[in-house]
This record gives sequence, structure tokens and C-alpha cells, in this order.
Amino acid sequence: MASSVYDCSVLPLSKIHNRAGNITVIEGDHSVPFPIKRIYYLYDIPSGETRGGHGHKELYQLIVAASGSFDVVLDDGRNKRIVTLNRPDYGLMVVPGIWRELLEFSSGAICLVMASEIYTELDYIREYKDFIAYKNA
Ligand code: TYD
Repeated sequence: MASSVYDCSVLPLSKIHNRAGNITVIEGDHSVPFPIKRIYYLYDIPSGETRGGHGHKELYQLIVAASGSFDVVLDDGRNKRIVTLNRPDYGLMVVPGIWRELLEFSSGAICLVMASEIYTELDYIREYKDFIAYKNA
């Protein structure tokens, strides 16, 4: 799996601005470079907690700080990148074959994730040594 952290990018999303607040719209066929089959969100994350800590074999994800902020550490086995997400109108696309950790969640942060596949544990790589073996295969 040859993907690199540099294949992951922060994409601008729409923003409909108005005095009474903003709307960001994400539409399946053209706002995101993959079909969205699942949406989930992380919330009520205790201070100091780390999420993620795994890789995916096939899954594409768009990760949005719908509220608050957090850091995403991306690792392809060679290079690491840290991306801070703190705006609801930008999303980080994570391609398959990337180890990721999410940390430094602000109080009240909501991590909204759009995913290209429904949930299956078979797509996860849960051990870092297995991830490195997968990248080198
Ligand atoms: P996991 O993806 O490991 O959490 P994170 O990366 O946010 O730290 O998922 C945590 C638990 O939730 C795990 O038992 C699997 C379950 N889960 C589902 O059942 N469906 C889902 O869509 C997701 C994302 C997780």
C-alpha cells in the first residue's frame, strides 16, 4: 500500500454565511472525492484523551472539526504530519493506508467523520507493527 501522508489534504467546504450564522453543506456526489456511505461523530471526549490509533485498508474519510479543535497525526510508516483542525468549513481527507491518531481535543469538540464504507472491523489495522508490515508488503 503505497499511500503517503502527502496524499491526505485539507479541503475547503462550502460556507453559506449570514448574519444569523453559517451553514456548511456536504453533498455526496461532488463535495467530497469519494462516495459517502457512513457518517459518525465523536463528542464528549475527555480532556487529554487520544482517539484513533489505527489504520484502514480501504477506507477514505473526511474529518471535520464541526465544533472546537483537535490535532490529527498522520503516519504512513515513513513520514508523519500533524494537521490541526479548528474550522467547520474545512475537512481533512484521509486516504487508505494511513495510521492516524486524534488528540488535543478542545472542550466540547465534535469530530465529524464522513466515510466511504460502512463499518467493518475487517478494514482496521489495530496494531502498529501490523500496519508497518502492511505498508511494506
Ligand atoms: P474506533 O474506530 O476504534 O474509535 P476511534 O478511532 O474513534 O478511537 O471505534 C470505537 C468503537 O466503536 C469500536 O468498538 C468500534 C465501534 N464503531 C462502530 O461500531 N461503528 C463505527 O462506525 C465506528 C466508527 C466505530
